[in-house]
Amino acid sequence: MSLYATVVTAMWVMLPAYVPNNAAVLAGGGAPLDGGRTWGGRRILGDGKTYRGTLFGVLAGFAVAAALDVLQRAAISAFGVSLPWFPFAAMGALPAGAMLGDILASFVKRRTGRERGASFPLLDQLDFVVVALAVTAVAAPAWFGDTFTLDVLLAILVLTPLLHLLTNAIAYQFGLKDEPW
Ligand code: CTP
Ligand code: MG
Repeated sequence: MSLYATVVTAMWVMLPAYVPNNAAVLAGGGAPLDGGRTWGGRRILGDGKTYRGTLFGVLAGFAVAAALDVLQRAAISAFGVSLPWFPFAAMGALPAGAMLGDILASFVKRRTGRERGASFPLLDQLDFVVVALAVTAVAAPAWFGDTFTLDVLLAILVLTPLLHLLTNAIAYQFGLKDEPW
């Protein structure tokens, strides 16, 4: 695969995992997932992980995957790249895994004494990718193997932190997010 095709494919397959974080920022608020409970004197997850944000994030990612399936043929001719089709299991696994990764990262941040909103370089940028990929590998193993070839995986690991920093900086500029990370 050419570098161009690799990058387009990487972005296409990860879109359903990228959107949930941003949708959660827009929808967030209300009751926190941990119900305000603490563990060892610190919040289990913190007020930044809410039911509304999580649910909306997963639904938004699912809707994006379904929309990409509708657009697949048009996108293949527009980009000139043979783009994959999302099976139902991947439609759910990519966004659910992304949200789970973000939640696990908050758990790790609280355990290491970081307050809500504190930055944790690399964990903040890659938590959701690693868990989205892991959950998808379990939920749709054959599709995962066909789709996430080594070059696509490499492109995802390099491009995701950059994209994440860029979109969060934009959300911060627009006052949607409290911190630029
Ligand atoms: N959000 C949410 N539910 C989630 C994830 C995010 O409601 N599962 C919303 C919250 O309003 C949160 C915002 O999106 O404040 C930004 O997300 P994030 O940066 O992940 O949370 P932080 O507030 O920075 O908290 P943490 O330190 O735990 O990451
Ligand atoms: Mg944050």
